[in-house]
Amino acid sequence: MDTTIMNSVKDFSKIKIKDVVTENFHAAELFEKLGIDFCCNGNRLLQEALEEKHILDVKFFEELNKVNMSISSDDQRYADWDLNFLAQYIVNNHHTYVKNAIPEITAHLQKVYNAHAKKYLYIAEVQNAFALVAEEMTSHMMKEERILFPLIKYLAETQKFNEKPKTGGFGTIKNPILQMEAEHVAAGGTMGTIRNLTNNYTLPEDACTTFKVVYKELDEFEKDLHKHVHLENNILFPRAIELEELLLKK
Ligand SMILES: [Fe+2]
Repeated sequence: MDTTIMNSVKDFSKIKIKDVVTENFHAAELFEKLGIDFCCNGNRLLQEALEEKHILDVKFFEELNKVNMSISSDDQRYADWDLNFLAQYIVNNHHTYVKNAIPEITAHLQKVYNAHAKKYLYIAEVQNAFALVAEEMTSHMMKEERILFPLIKYLAETQKFNEKPKTGGFGTIKNPILQMEAEHVAAGGTMGTIRNLTNNYTLPEDACTTFKVVYKELDEFEKDLHKHVHLENNILFPRAIELEELLLKK
């Protein structure tokens, strides 16, 4: 059994999925492989998720140990980062990736639609679903960048100057966070629909290069979204709520 996680949580039955990924970010790849949602459903108990997928605990921890052996000393420890730095990292890394990927994937899907939509009817549905997620993510990221992340920055600065934060018209920070979490569920669900429509990105035999490229891009887009949501739902948001509660007690 993995000793690092067991040391911090002690009881296997109490380990949450998010504990594993927060401890070692590379575990995200293991969860992707097993089809276990570690971002929107990171609060679920690991034991429950493994049972649902009929995966033996021993097997899981064997695999996890292999992942843990690959941790290097300079691996990113997101949970230890300054909150504002983490928010900026999410913008610079994940938001920028999403903004650049949307027009590329949209153009490639259009090409595949033009050439193959008559034979493969589901392409039109994939195109519609991606247009929906693109629209949702664009507005979602704008809200985070303009409203929520500046609030997190404000809290981090308030802490530095040892002041009590003023709550704005939105009440507690939990309100915008709940809204963002609901939007994560919607975006994750739409990407799940695309995965189902494409039968787990299984290419038809006569797939052209653009078909292959766009499946790879969509798969990558979904995986990036999972990591992105994990950083927010499991690390940034709970730490911001905790910080606000602490500062309001002053
Ligand atoms: Fe988000």
